[in-house]
This record gives sequence, structure tokens and C-alpha cells, in this order.
Amino acid sequence: MQFPAYATLLTDIRDTVLTITVNRPDALNALSSRVIEDLEHCLDAVSDVLTNDDGAWPVRGVIITGAGKAFVAGADIREMTAMSPDDAHAYSSRMHQVTLAIEQLPVPVIAAVNGFALGGGCELAMACDVIYAASTASFGQPEVSLGLVPGFGGSVRLPQYVGPGLARELLFTGRRLDAGEAQRAGLVTALFDTVDDLLDGAHSTLALVARQSPAAVALVKRTLIATLGLPTDEGLAIEAESFRTAFATEDKAEGTRAFLAKEHPSFPGR
Ligand code: CAA
Repeated sequence: MQFPAYATLLTDIRDTVLTITVNRPDALNALSSRVIEDLEHCLDAVSDVLTNDDGAWPVRGVIITGAGKAFVAGADIREMTAMSPDDAHAYSSRMHQVTLAIEQLPVPVIAAVNGFALGGGCELAMACDVIYAASTASFGQPEVSLGLVPGFGGSVRLPQYVGPGLARELLFTGRRLDAGEAQRAGLVTALFDTVDDLLDGAHSTLALVARQSPAAVALVKRTLIATLGLPTDEGLAIEAESFRTAFATEDKAEGTRAFLAKEHPSFPGR
């Protein structure tokens, strides 16, 4: 599969893993309207391919990272100086849709955080399924230092990752977490010494994902997102529906057959 050239993103596919690199290093990859538009188009393109490929699954995982010394240093502060309150609402809603599009992709998305992930950058990372970080990464929601509040999901997703107490402290103070503290807080799942190791680590995880049933991985992702924050009984009801759905897939038939035959499964992806 091929992507068009984007003004602010680089795309690369290797071994069914798509890497999307936010590429505006002069502005530390700040999420201008143009970056958001490019992300919309790129995520639409991946989603189209994955919903129309009839089991081919040319992409089994996505990595989002940043060019240069930042992952993403936030919403574009320069652009925001000219926004009216209504413009700001539209800007926020538009990026919310991007974060939901990431959640709705039927493959895992890893944020490979190479440097600053501040404000909208931390929010972009938290919209991914898993956050990996290099030792150079730092995280924070410094909006209050600008007279702002999180606008791309931080008030909702940060407490989900780190719990309400630490989330409040971070949102009230704008304090940054270094990579180690972010890992201890549960924001970061795995920490790597260098950016090369970080990208290799994300690739290795997605290679492992690519050996599993694509239909089951997509269903697990959908179930996890649909049940997040629900009362236990409601979450369990959704899980039972997913379990039912899995039993209607060819992947389930192949996976269980291969296990009993002591063979490696060859999943049809449906
Ligand atoms: N928006 C626009 N431009 C930005 C930017 C941003 N968020 N962050 C950095 N830049 C620009 C700088 O203005 C600078 O541009 P010039 O060279 O033209 O002056 C360039 O990127 C390099 O930045 P610095 O010189 O500041 O680099 P540094 O290494 O000294 O500092 C930094 C790095 C600590 C990340 C610092 O740039 C910084 O604090 N950036 C802003 C971080 C921030 O507050 N993010 C939250 C934004 S609000 C938000 O995101 C709201 C929301 O939830 C939607």
C-alpha cells in the first residue's frame, strides 16, 4: 500500500507496520491545523484499506512518533493566538475526532515517544493503545501555564492512565514527568535507552501482534475501548457479545483447529 505525500507527516511501511512520523521539527511538531488535517487523511487511508481488504490485512500495527527532539510539543500556540473561542472549540473537536479515529483503527497503535510529549502531544500519545518511550521523553499537560486547559483529551484520558490523584496534580501544576517517572506512573509501558531501540521495540511488539488472529486482535481492541470506565456488569455484557462474535470468525475455527492439530495457525483474517 502507498500513501500520498503529506506536508507534515512521513509515512513508512515495513513488514505490515505503518510508521507515521509527525514532521514539523522546527516547531517541535506542534499540532497545527495542517498537521491535524494530514492526520485525518492518513488515518482515513489506513482505515479504508483495513475495512476493504477482505482479510489481507496489509497493516497489522501502527507506530506514531515525532521527527527531531520532540514527539509533539502540543497544540500550536502560535496558531491559537488568532483563534476565537468558537474556533478553539472547533480545533478541539477536530483533534478529538483524530484521537477517536486512532481508537477505532482495528489494529494496535503504539506511541513511540522520542522527546517532548506536552499538552496536545501527551494527549496524542494517550489516544494510542500503548505508550513506549525513549529515555529522552518527557510528558506533561502545561496548559494552565498558558491560561488554557487540555483540549485534545487530557482531562479524560490522563486520569485513566495515571489515576485521578496524580492526574489532578499534573493538570493543576503543569509539572513534567521524565520518562522514568512516566513509566512508574503507568503512562509508559516500556522504556528504551535510545530512539533507535524505541522504534525497534515497537516493531518487535507489533511483529508479535502480526502472528495472532487479526480478527481477534481487532475485537479485543474494540472491546477494551467500549468497556473502559463502564460499571463491571455492563463491561462484562459487552465482553460476552465479543466472545459470541469471535465464535463466528474463520480465525477462531483455524486457531482452535491448528492448536489441536499441533500446527501453526494460518489465519484467514476474518
Ligand atoms: N506551538 C508552536 N510552536 C512551538 C510549540 C508549540 N506548542 N512548542 C515549541 N514551539 C516552537 C518554538 O516557538 C520555537 O520556535 P522558534 O524557533 O520559531 O522560536 C521552536 O518550536 C523551538 O522551541 P524552543 O526554542 O522553545 O525549544 P526549547 O528546547 O528551548 O524548549 C519546550 C522546548 C520546553 C518543549 C518549549 O518549546 C515549550 O515549552 N513548548 C510549549 C509546550 C506547551 O506548552 N505545550 C502545550 C500547548 S497548549 C495545548 O497543547 C493545549 C491542548 O491541550 C490542545
